[in-house]
Amino acid sequence: MIDPFLKVKHLRKEFGGLIAVNGVSFEIGPGEFVGLIGPNGCGKSTTFNCISGLLDKTAGSVELFGTDITTMRPEQIQKIGMTRTFQHTRLWRQMTVIENLLVPPRNQLGSSIKEKIRGIFQYDSTRDEETRLDRAYSVLDQLEVPHMAHNLTSELSGGQSKLVDIGRSMMGEPRLLLLDEPVAGVAGPLAMKIFNSLRKMVDDTGISILIIEHNMDFILRQGVDRIIVMNEGRIMMQGTPDEVKGNRAVIEAYLGSSGEKGAEEE
Ligand SMILES: Nc1ncnc2c1ncn2[C@@H]1O[C@H](COP(=O)(O)OP(=O)(O)O)[C@@H](O)[C@H]1O
Ligand SMILES: [Mg+2]
Repeated sequence: MIDPFLKVKHLRKEFGGLIAVNGVSFEIGPGEFVGLIGPNGCGKSTTFNCISGLLDKTAGSVELFGTDITTMRPEQIQKIGMTRTFQHTRLWRQMTVIENLLVPPRNQLGSSIKEKIRGIFQYDSTRDEETRLDRAYSVLDQLEVPHMAHNLTSELSGGQSKLVDIGRSMMGEPRLLLLDEPVAGVAGPLAMKIFNSLRKMVDDTGISILIIEHNMDFILRQGVDRIIVMNEGRIMMQGTPDEVKGNRAVIEAYLGSSGEKGAEEE
C-alpha cells in the first residue's frame, strides 16, 4: 500500500456550543482528484481551516506526507507541500495577473502583519526572482491562460479571477492542493474548463487535489476519482461519482437543505 498524502483522523471542531465538524476521518492518496461536497454549513470550509492550520482543532489529528501537522501553523504546513485557497477570492486588484502570482499566498501566511512580511522574505530568499517568474508563466500555461499575464486583475471576470487564485496556489509547487469552491459563481463552460485543467494537472504531475464544490449535479460529471459527502459535520459516505449518484440518503440530504442548490455568493 502506498502511503496516503493526507490522513485526517477523528477531526472535531466546536465553536462555542456549535459542533461544526464532528469526527471526520478520511485520506487522500497520491495523484488523487477528490471532491468534498455537502449542503451549505455542513463543515466543509471548517475542515479545510483545521487541516491547513488556520484553526485549532477541538480533537483529532492530521498527518501530511507522514508528518503529524495537527498543531503546526499554516506557513509551516505550506512549506511541507500543501497549499489551500479560500472560498472568497482576494486578489491584488491593481496588479497584473503575473504580479499576483509572484506575491506569496497571503491568506495562508500568518495573520499578523509581522508574520506576513516574514513570510514574503522567506519566499524571496528560497527562490530567486527569475525562477519564480518562469514558474509563474508555466503556471499560466498549465491553466491555459498565458494571454492573461499582463492584464490587470481588476479587469478580469469572476471566473478568470478564480483561475488566477488557483494559479497563485500552484506557485509553491505543492504536492497537495486544497481548493475551496474554486468555481462558485463561474459560468458553466469556464467551470468545466477549470476542472479539466485540474484533472490534467493531477494526471501529468502526480499531485493530489481535494476540491470543495457544493453543486452535486455539477461535480458528478467532472471526472473526479472519488467524492466525500459531508452532512451536518459528519461524513455521510465516500465513493466514486457513480456510487454517490446511487445513494438515496445523499440525494435526500441535498434536497432537504432548502435553498441550497445554485445559491452562489459571488
Ligand atoms: N469562525 C467561526 N466561528 C463560528 N462559527 C463558525 C465559524 N466558521 C464556521 N462556523 C459555523 O460552522 C458551520 C460550518 O461552516 P462551514 O465550515 O463554513 O460550512 P460549509 O463550508 O460546509 O458551508 C456553520 O454553522 C458556520 O456558521
Ligand atoms: Mg464553505
